[in-house]
Amino acid sequence: MSVLRTKSIEQSIADTDEPEYQLKKSLTALDLTVFGVGVVIGAGIFTLTGRVAHQMTGPAIVISFIVAAVCCGLAAMCYAEFASTVPVSGSAYTFSYASLGEVFAWIIGWDLILEMFLGASVVAQGWSAYFGVLLKKLGLSLPTAVSYGGVVDLPAIVLVLVLGLLITIGIKESMRVNLVLVGVKLFIVLFVIVAGLMFINPANYSPFIPDPAPSAATTGFSWTQPLLQWLTGSAPSVFGWGGVFAGAALVFFAYIGFDVVATTAEEAKNPQRDLPIGIIASLTICTILYCAVALVVVGMVNYTEIDPSAALANAFAHHGQDWMATLISAGAVAGLTTVVLTLMIGATRIIFAMSRDNLLPISLAKVHPRFKTPWKISMIVTVVCAITAGFTPIGVLEEMVNIGTLTAFILVSIAVVVLRRKRPDLPRAFTVPLVPALPITSALICFYLTLNLSLETWVRFIVWMALGFIVYFSYGYRKARLATGAPLPHDVQAAMDDGVVKRPDAQ
Ligand code: ALA
Repeated sequence: MSVLRTKSIEQSIADTDEPEYQLKKSLTALDLTVFGVGVVIGAGIFTLTGRVAHQMTGPAIVISFIVAAVCCGLAAMCYAEFASTVPVSGSAYTFSYASLGEVFAWIIGWDLILEMFLGASVVAQGWSAYFGVLLKKLGLSLPTAVSYGGVVDLPAIVLVLVLGLLITIGIKESMRVNLVLVGVKLFIVLFVIVAGLMFINPANYSPFIPDPAPSAATTGFSWTQPLLQWLTGSAPSVFGWGGVFAGAALVFFAYIGFDVVATTAEEAKNPQRDLPIGIIASLTICTILYCAVALVVVGMVNYTEIDPSAALANAFAHHGQDWMATLISAGAVAGLTTVVLTLMIGATRIIFAMSRDNLLPISLAKVHPRFKTPWKISMIVTVVCAITAGFTPIGVLEEMVNIGTLTAFILVSIAVVVLRRKRPDLPRAFTVPLVPALPITSALICFYLTLNLSLETWVRFIVWMALGFIVYFSYGYRKARLATGAPLPHDVQAAMDDGVVKRPDAQ
């Protein structure tokens, strides 16, 4: 028995739904771009921007967005090659199981769970922040204790429960609904940019990179200071160039979702051409929009006064434009819903894929006789997301999502180089240029960003990974279907034949 055992490509194909995958090979570059923009634009731009500008970067948040975009662009290319190399289910988890070995598949899967399920909770909180603003604008309000930032975030819990119900009874993903919601989101973002131009006060741009300022009462140590600062023995501080990079590590969250686009490789009509177009076009669109929104918002309100929770809407309220604030809140409420849903489905699928291999208990993958969904997993994801979104203090979750995703990106980047050497024979629908320089640069930039995340995030992440290894060695390592040779339960196979639960981390 070895932690590096691999599941053969033939086995992976047998475990996935080949005919279904063939049927769905229909996405064009435009579909992929729309899909990408739909998954990506969410709480990152709507809520995080305000907090990062206010607490960490000032107007220089624009530079943070550019740094994060470069990191994502490189990683997304590696992800695309990784996902398109073998024509089986496009998840990095499944593919790494077929190539790198079980323990790497486990780490990637465990990181993806963190990304998807915490991501869903974070965006649910962002949704709740805007829902609160919207209620207020409509003359209604919830008691503070059960609103965003209160003791319990009730709206976030309700949203997660409703969406969880939809997932459990098996809603069909609809490109058309997605298109409408992407349209709403794009309209709101463009509205912020264009309408906001009228309220810009150039004085707010200076200083563009505020001078570093101490971030803690003590000069020696703070749990919230970036790991890098602590390692280099610097005093805890925010703003300045250090703040710009710490900000980049945080706003990285706003771009998360590109990995999901890359994993649609096997559904693209012409992956070699369409996948890079889809990834690069959605990345470019989001980068331009994010930088423009950030420039407008820090121009409208001095960074010291920006609202850290619902910055976009409140920048307009700040200028007395209440109807604009209402419009933006309504758009955010509609637009963020789809991001939460996508991430929750993603979490369900990755757990499904891992239980299908019995790295997590296979009984979890049991499929509901009527709804044909892995209802146990859906309910677990729903309940855990609801608790996390409802009770976790604001401001610690995004960093956890980022560190999980960045770690998965690092592994994926390295894997590209390893696999070029190990399996040059595999057909690659999409190839990264400049190997090994590009993947190595990608891994290094991702790693550098993780060093800019806070100490407390690192500690939490190490605990999460330790927990993952305990689960793996006490369960999956011994029970994996690969080790025991157990067949796939009939109902699980049948559900996959229906195409209900096919691709673990993609839509
Ligand atoms: N990129 C997604 C968002 O910002 C996760 O909400």
